Amino acid sequence: MKCFSCFTSPQTSKSNPNSPTKVSFLRQPPPDDDVPQPKAPEPEIPEISDACKDDNNNNIEAQIFSFRELAMATKNFRRECLLGEGGFGRVYKGKLEKTGQVVAVKQLDRNGIQGNREFLIEVLMLSFLHHPNLVNLIGYCADGDQRLLVYEYMPLGSLEDHLLDIRPHRKPLDWYTRMKIALGASKGLEYLHDKPKVPVIYRDLKSSNILLDEEFNARLSDFGLAKLGPVGDKTHVSSRIMGTYGYCAPEYQRTGRLTVKSDVYSFGVVLLELITGRRVIDTTRPGKEQNLVAWAVPLFKERRFPLLADPLLKGDYPCKGLHQAIAVAAMCLQEEANVRPQMSDVVTALSFLGTGPSSTEASSSNPSLEPESYNEER
Ligand SMILES: Nc1ncnc2c1ncn2[C@@H]1O[C@H](COP(=O)(O)OP(=O)(O)OP(=O)(O)O)[C@@H](O)[C@H]1O
Ligand SMILES: [Mg+2]
Repeated sequence: MKCFSCFTSPQTSKSNPNSPTKVSFLRQPPPDDDVPQPKAPEPEIPEISDACKDDNNNNIEAQIFSFRELAMATKNFRRECLLGEGGFGRVYKGKLEKTGQVVAVKQLDRNGIQGNREFLIEVLMLSFLHHPNLVNLIGYCADGDQRLLVYEYMPLGSLEDHLLDIRPHRKPLDWYTRMKIALGASKGLEYLHDKPKVPVIYRDLKSSNILLDEEFNARLSDFGLAKLGPVGDKTHVSSRIMGTYGYCAPEYQRTGRLTVKSDVYSFGVVLLELITGRRVIDTTRPGKEQNLVAWAVPLFKERRFPLLADPLLKGDYPCKGLHQAIAVAAMCLQEEANVRPQMSDVVTALSFLGTGPSSTEASSSNPSLEPESYNEER
């Protein structure tokens, strides 16, 4: 999660030079008298533990590890244990000596400006938030200036690895697996928005932050940018603009006003990536195709749905399922945040699409999910 101005050209990641998804940005909102300009640090950390409690009050204490223990677990952070690298540091596969548990250890970059705050938010949020579609935090290490997070190891890595950075020997994801992943991610977001006392806005939904267990169940990871949502009669929270280029909702990028609907927009981008197999920003494509949303919206409107399907699917998808998934993506990507659906509606819509041909047909009984309704609203 790099800090980066969204108006400069995206930097590329060390591990994946073609991946604009690795680029996150931070900048002050443009001057706007209407928008309170928050000063860093945002005064939120102490509130998190209270606000994130859900009805079950299921706080699970994160374990505290020494640096030595984690160095042992990762064979001294050996290169062969490296799983990947993001804007905040490197992630290693490790095995805890005491229990034999296999884990993923994220070593935060010690030069990171935002690192300490994000470290605290991540530890707090993940101590209180527990759901089958969120990654589990096992513990952390804050030895001296070292900051490390220890997660449950996700054997299939990230959605990005399977969809956008496919290794030569790997089979592309089939249609139903894509819909299963979309459904899992939507349930994770629904939980964050609806279960805690105060809604949690995830703010960093993207394919590299959707990790996969051995059965392709989606698990959201990286809560360092998560933020408590508006309460009472407030419509939004104002925030420094942070997130990842291309996935951020347009109104949040323009004004710094954050709502749960910003996550809904990012979800629409991920769903579009799942449908098309294209990156949200891909500078290797011809000019008009570099921005996935700008390329796809005219195709939604003209109802040229088959052009949106990933060529790697080789036509192997249910037509009705494709139309419905495109309709959901289109609704999530609407410019006007208020008319985007709630995540609970998205979960309902997608639950018809992920389990096989018969359930796909069943979804046709709900007219609000038809592609036509998107066209009417635009
Ligand atoms: N718990 C985990 N289990 C298995 N692999 C993981 C785990 N966490 C992260 N990874 C791997 O490490 C990679 C890097 O993750 P990281 O979160 O540091 O960066 P990123 O998501 O690519 O970018 P950003 O820093 O902007 O979030 C992921 O893409 C994934 O392949
Ligand atoms: Mg990540």
